[in-house]
Amino acid sequence: MTSRFSSFKLALTAVAVPVLLAAAGSAQAATITISCGSVGQDFEFCKKHTAEWAKKSGHEVKLFTIPNSTTDILALFRQMFAAKSADLDVINVDVVWPGVIKDHLVDLKKYSKGAEKEHFPAIVANNTVDGKLLAMPWFTDAGLLYYRKDLLDKYGVQAPATWEDLSAAAKKIQDGERAAGNADFQGFVFQAKAYEGLTCDAVEWISSYKGGNIVNDKGDITVNNPQAVKALKMAASWVGSIAPQGVLNYAEEEARGVFQNGNAAFMRNWPYAWSLGNGADSKVKGKIGVAPLPKGGADGQHAATLGGWQLAVSKYSKNADAAADLVMYMTSPEVQKERAIKGSYNPTIAALYKDKDVLAANPFFGSLFDVFTSAVPRPATATGLKYPEVSAAFWNATHDVLSGKATAEDSLKKLEAKLKQVKRNQW
Ligand code: GLC
Repeated sequence: MTSRFSSFKLALTAVAVPVLLAAAGSAQAATITISCGSVGQDFEFCKKHTAEWAKKSGHEVKLFTIPNSTTDILALFRQMFAAKSADLDVINVDVVWPGVIKDHLVDLKKYSKGAEKEHFPAIVANNTVDGKLLAMPWFTDAGLLYYRKDLLDKYGVQAPATWEDLSAAAKKIQDGERAAGNADFQGFVFQAKAYEGLTCDAVEWISSYKGGNIVNDKGDITVNNPQAVKALKMAASWVGSIAPQGVLNYAEEEARGVFQNGNAAFMRNWPYAWSLGNGADSKVKGKIGVAPLPKGGADGQHAATLGGWQLAVSKYSKNADAAADLVMYMTSPEVQKERAIKGSYNPTIAALYKDKDVLAANPFFGSLFDVFTSAVPRPATATGLKYPEVSAAFWNATHDVLSGKATAEDSLKKLEAKLKQVKRNQW
């Protein structure tokens, strides 16, 4: 790595020794560097599956550790793209990025040989820009409500249907657990740090109150509306009451840490938290329930933000053929199945939702199937290259409300003006 990237404290690890390529029938051994995430079990799976491919193909793989936050990962990749860096061959692509980094990715159509047809069409469409298949779907994500089954039973409360119900249930359990001696116990933990994860949570809150999606499909800025005000007021009411003040600095892993240690009644998180929450070292193993996120009031709707990751080949790679082969292996049904069973990563291949081993490991993949297929996309397609700016303005405006710096009314009004500036005449 050059020093330009040293602030990200990246680790580069060689994990496979090249074997004789003659056996694999390939012309020359290449060294392929792949970015591996660091949330939950991301890194271990990356290591295992790339090593399998290296063994099969005769190529060598190097792992390039990327930061936890998608916001930091995008900043890093943008620096690398600007430098036309060949340091990375295969990269992770957040579902909101294809339109943002489209100029730096290889068209995978000639390598996929139609394999994308097995994947959810909406994700393939998301990853296809100007007729080019820029990334293969790897796993999909949707926001979920995790709860402690044992504590709901103990306090005689139901899994909440609305945010109002959640607030009341969280308060009751928190009061009870604190009175019983656990001073650190929290009612609800979620993602409220100023980063992309807060955009995901806040899109859920606003959409659940039927307050739209920041920018609609036509590109109109819709975020300054009374339902959005209601949603942000509700979320702000949690901070310092049923959620710790520190939630203003929580991303996914901080929330999971508190919940998995047995210190929260409810948590908003992605599916990956299921497998870890039921892991051998989890204090809440076997005590977790999963439900759709609550509605915004009785007239509201359930809303889960669509997340997920793809794999792509950098245009600056010197070994695009081998890199694309690795992408096809990593996104194959075989690898997706193992990741689903052992890591509760949602496959992007519909057929795997009927697989009995996948369903046995993750019963909610079946019972909440609709949550995954009807998840709300962030307005990345409508805002194209400007999405990162739109999202940053939105999470900052939301963070100001949650931290008590601004009222929901003022903050959304200011946000609307800011988004108009970002849009100018068109996205
Ligand atoms: C998860 C989602 C991704 C989202 C991110 C926000 O990784 O899959 O789409 O942007 O969380 O933190």
